[in-house]
Amino acid sequence: MYALVFHGAGQRAWEQKPRPQIQDATDAVVRITTSTICGTDLHILKGDVPTVTDGRILGHEGVGVVEEAGAGVTGVRKGDKVLISCITSCGTCDFCKKGMYSHCRRGGWILGNTIDGTQAEYVRIPHADNSLYPLAADADEEAMVMLSDILPTGFECGVLNGQVKPGDTVAIVGAGPIGLAALLTAQFYAPAEIVMIDLDENRLRVARSLGGTQTVNSSDGQAVQKVMDLTAGAGVDVAIEAVGIPATFDICQAILAPGGRLANVGVHGKPVELHLERLWAHNVTLTTRLVDTVTTPMLLKLVRAGRLQPKALVTHRFALADVMKAYDTFGNAAKERALKVILQCT
Ligand SMILES: NC(=O)c1ccc[n+]([C@@H]2O[C@H](COP(=O)([O-])OP(=O)(O)OC[C@H]3O[C@@H](n4cnc5c(N)ncnc54)[C@H](O)[C@@H]3O)[C@@H](O)[C@H]2O)c1
Ligand SMILES: [Zn+2]
Ligand SMILES: [Zn+2]
Repeated sequence: MYALVFHGAGQRAWEQKPRPQIQDATDAVVRITTSTICGTDLHILKGDVPTVTDGRILGHEGVGVVEEAGAGVTGVRKGDKVLISCITSCGTCDFCKKGMYSHCRRGGWILGNTIDGTQAEYVRIPHADNSLYPLAADADEEAMVMLSDILPTGFECGVLNGQVKPGDTVAIVGAGPIGLAALLTAQFYAPAEIVMIDLDENRLRVARSLGGTQTVNSSDGQAVQKVMDLTAGAGVDVAIEAVGIPATFDICQAILAPGGRLANVGVHGKPVELHLERLWAHNVTLTTRLVDTVTTPMLLKLVRAGRLQPKALVTHRFALADVMKAYDTFGNAAKERALKVILQCT
């Protein structure tokens, strides 16, 4: 089969690899029909994720058809259309029993990281019963593949941890796919205002079309002042950090109202300075989370019912065999106006 293979920082190739086989009775092999590229894949290509080694097939998002199921798999069988979760989980270890699939003793984020991933014609999925979700044969794959990673991430790490409530003023710093996923799912709770903050005018325009009530372009370094002006000096009830750099974490901590919640989603490579000299008396809550994908069944219901429309995040489509070109486009997201890039394999 063909797959997108990582060969060290800055090096990737579309090349032949052996087709994956069942290794354990709880595995399934899935033929990929739709996949996509994540910002995390770009981090890997920069060499930021040392657990990913030379020869690894990238990708942790996908929809496909079960090609073969191990003898111990009961929830899916050959021919079933399935959604692949970016988090692999056994469902039985102590962390899984707490609903913390991201820290599963036998899984977690392993796809396209420590085992071969989904930007390939076939992928082996361990613990298939807990890591795959059956889909209807006619399910909209482009909408569904948004549930592999970005929708549960924006919802669990941003909206749930931020405890968005009716009437809240919410700020989301970063209008990339994850920030926009938080924007879509924050609206389940009817906040009064959702202020979207980014450097990219195109992404802010998309954010307005998806329910952002105010947008702030932070390229002039005045984001904090602008948010304080927009909230008549009060600040926000919830600040969701969806970028992963000190500058955006700083914006979040500076705009929190008393009683506010700061929900960090971004993957940080550098330390940040926590301003306890101001926040100690502010009754704030700070949360972090690696996505667990425990809300995937609920999100699937909302997509099926048409109440959640994540397909709005798709901007480009490529054949899986053109994944090298797709990476070039996604890697120049601002210039190409790219959000999610679909990879199709029929
Ligand atoms: N916690 C988790 O489990 C988890 C899971 C997946 C992704 N992530 C992380 O979430 C973050 C967002 O992911 P994404 O795919 O949307 O990334 P992205 O790079 O597509 O989007 C980030 C956005 O931030 C904007 N930005 C950059 N600097 C800014 C600044 N100074 N002020 C305002 N905006 C700024 C960019 O213009 C861009 O639109 C990343 O750090 C990613 O690694 C976390
Ligand atoms: Zn991802
Ligand atoms: Zn587990």
